[in-house]
Amino acid sequence: MKNPRAKHNFIGRTCSISGVGSYVPEKILTNADLEKMVETSDEWITSRTGIKERRIAAANEFTSDLAAKAAKRAMKMAGVTADQIDLIIIATLTPDMPFPSTACLVQRKLGAARAAAFDIEAACSGFIYALEIGQQFILSRSYETVLVVGAEKLSSIVNWKDRNTCVLFGDGAGAAILQHRENSNGLLTAVMGADGNKADLLSMPGGGSACPATLQSVADGLHFLRMDGKETFKNAVNAMVSAANEAMRRCEIDITKIKCVIPHQANQRIIDAVGERLKATPEQLFINLHKYGNTSAASVAIALDEAVHSGKIARGDLILLVVFGAGLTWGAAVIEW
Ligand code: UT7
Repeated sequence: MKNPRAKHNFIGRTCSISGVGSYVPEKILTNADLEKMVETSDEWITSRTGIKERRIAAANEFTSDLAAKAAKRAMKMAGVTADQIDLIIIATLTPDMPFPSTACLVQRKLGAARAAAFDIEAACSGFIYALEIGQQFILSRSYETVLVVGAEKLSSIVNWKDRNTCVLFGDGAGAAILQHRENSNGLLTAVMGADGNKADLLSMPGGGSACPATLQSVADGLHFLRMDGKETFKNAVNAMVSAANEAMRRCEIDITKIKCVIPHQANQRIIDAVGERLKATPEQLFINLHKYGNTSAASVAIALDEAVHSGKIARGDLILLVVFGAGLTWGAAVIEW
């Protein structure tokens, strides 16, 4: 295995994940519950997506609350206190509000008074984008401890009358503490990509400078998430496979060296198609989609936490994260755990 970072001048410096944590809201919305809300069936949802249930945040529970709870768990695992955090990066497309950033609200909730804080928006690919950004600060010795969180309250932008989308999404958060660790390669490489020409496939048109909230924009449903599912599906499989292959190529490894593949949890059929084209075995693929649905930026972060705490990953194992989302955006990362 090759460490692609070695070509840079980060002598003696690596970026490892020293703690992970996740949090999902208590309320469970099952497929049976959805049958009472829209014209759908457990059979359709299960066979077309693999999702059985998803978590829904309470009315007074926001993205920053989910993020702070996940962060506290990651900090506990890493043995890090709030005053040690130098930087907080939150990946989300459902911030508490347009500004201030959700990262600033999380900083307040954690009491991480020393930390700089900002959000990044790369939709469902956000966690890998945030990991890659965070690790640059560690490798360059700018910071010692970076908190990265993928957090979403997607239930706040889902049209609960649209069966094409409302069955797919859920709320939750996953967090990681990034630090240099001796004798570990840590995050070996992260591939990031985007194609703005396909921005319209998956978007929420209202609420920004192009379409501020008006009575008309609300009446037209422009503040809800909308998606061309079929086209998104095709693009997802192609982009995830090529990003994953590029990440492994950079490390000069093949899929047999990977202990655990953690794909974005959007659709079981996407995961199956990606797994098949990467020649990953079912044992290598980590799947928790049936429990949470698509939690966007939180998706691989929650899955990573569950894979670690279920004992599926041990220190020294190689992990492949691979993501895809609106933008379009995509990414893949190889991590020595
Ligand atoms: O996280 C970002 C990335 N997101 C994704 O990657 C999602 C990608 N797309 C998908 O996962 C799939 O395209 C969906 C799960 C969204 C849809 O599956 P599909 O196999 O592409 O179905 P479809 O959209 O072509 O719809 C097939 C039929 C349609 O009926 P007609 O027109 O054939 O009569 C839909 O109206 O299924 C109907 N349908 C439903 N029926 C029952 C759509 N949603 C539902 C539903 N329950 N919830």
